[in-house]
Amino acid sequence: MTVSKVAGYNIGCRHCGSLSGDEDIITANCKNIAETELKSGETLVIKKINPPLESYADNVTCWDVVRDDLLVGVFEPWLFTPYYIGEIQGDVVGSMACFTPVENPEVGLVEFVNTEENHRRKGVSTALLRQLISHFEVDGGLALYLCTTNPVAGRMYENCGFSYLVGDGMRYLTREAGDFDAGYLAKTGAASVRQAHWGDLPGVSALFCHREPAWEIKEYLSHCFKDTRFEGHFMRLMRRIEEDRGVIQILENDCKRVVGCVIVERLPTFHQQHVAHLSIRVAPDYGRHSCELLDAAVDCAHQIGISILQSYVAECDADAKDVLAAASFTEEAVLRGRLRTTDGFTDLAVYSRILSEVPPQHSQHKYYGERQPWQTERIHELGKAMPRYTEHK
Ligand SMILES: CC(C)(COP(=O)(O)OP(=O)(O)OC[C@H]1O[C@@H](n2cnc3c(N)ncnc32)[C@H](O)[C@@H]1OP(=O)(O)O)[C@@H](O)C(=O)NCCC(=O)NCCS
Repeated sequence: MTVSKVAGYNIGCRHCGSLSGDEDIITANCKNIAETELKSGETLVIKKINPPLESYADNVTCWDVVRDDLLVGVFEPWLFTPYYIGEIQGDVVGSMACFTPVENPEVGLVEFVNTEENHRRKGVSTALLRQLISHFEVDGGLALYLCTTNPVAGRMYENCGFSYLVGDGMRYLTREAGDFDAGYLAKTGAASVRQAHWGDLPGVSALFCHREPAWEIKEYLSHCFKDTRFEGHFMRLMRRIEEDRGVIQILENDCKRVVGCVIVERLPTFHQQHVAHLSIRVAPDYGRHSCELLDAAVDCAHQIGISILQSYVAECDADAKDVLAAASFTEEAVLRGRLRTTDGFTDLAVYSRILSEVPPQHSQHKYYGERQPWQTERIHELGKAMPRYTEHK
């Protein structure tokens, strides 16, 4: 087998993961990319596998809400989702995934890091992560994000060059990243609004993990506050808004960076389906596009039967209120002391925008607990109306 040693990286192909002829191609989507000797003296073979993962699917972890789609490659048109897998004598002993947008390799997420218990402390995860980072860098990557609550993992990530960032999140900046925090979301040129797709996962994470704007509420729907990192949240939100349950609109600049995002999710009952929560985040340099972004999201929301949009803003975040007010949202209520901040409790303002009334998008029986059409028919057949709850008392 001809493979590169883990310490010496060759130029690789972003699409297939091959390392300039040194790779050992097993199948079109599975390649041996390196092998290295572990502290135990055993040889670790490192594979890079793009979905469909086929038999390897049983050896890796993934977010439950997207697992079935992600592991068979449904997201591949928008998102590269290779898994780096370590094997000793053909047995999988460790794995991790790297997610980068197809259209922009600059930001990525490292997820699902795991070493089998009886192979820990041999250097397996370190070897896999170093390969992952090397491929990310070669592809033009700037910043890799991950999170952990495990101090052992934290030490391993530190050893590989990650630093603590926000909440339980960490970040790795490549040599090309420069002053990433000052430059990545800085104004470059034109920006335009489009619908979100699965490839926005890393870009939206970079936007929400940035320290600016320093609002107390970053993304209310996924419970993301000032000091909370944002990561798999996007996958879960995308799933939640499918089937006309909401809208996600992206503001993208001319470098294909996500510089703004609006998320709308309708309330989950027949009686309140016309009402939706909305959250917005825009990089300060693109603040003047906020109105355009909000208007686009509001239009899309109206088209799916939402006529009232409401947003929660911390009373102290004056510029967040300005953004909403500029797009015709008005302060409708102030809820006292609803938010704990580092300076004590603050009030929560509810900003709303009321649109023209639209017919219900989903009929009543589509909702949990509501009467089904067959039940209505059956009751008619029986020839009498069922007593209402109030008559029953
Ligand atoms: C965290 C985890 C992935 C580490 O995998 P691993 O293959 O054992 O890691 P490595 O052997 O490459 O260890 C790298 C470094 O991590 C640290 N480390 C690993 N195991 C450690 C332990 N038991 N105690 C203290 N530090 C430890 C050390 O700094 C180590 O470097 P060193 O051996 O040179 O001192 C593994 O313990 C694991 O799968 N844990 C459960 C799942 C998990 O928490 N995953 C991370 C999710 S974010």
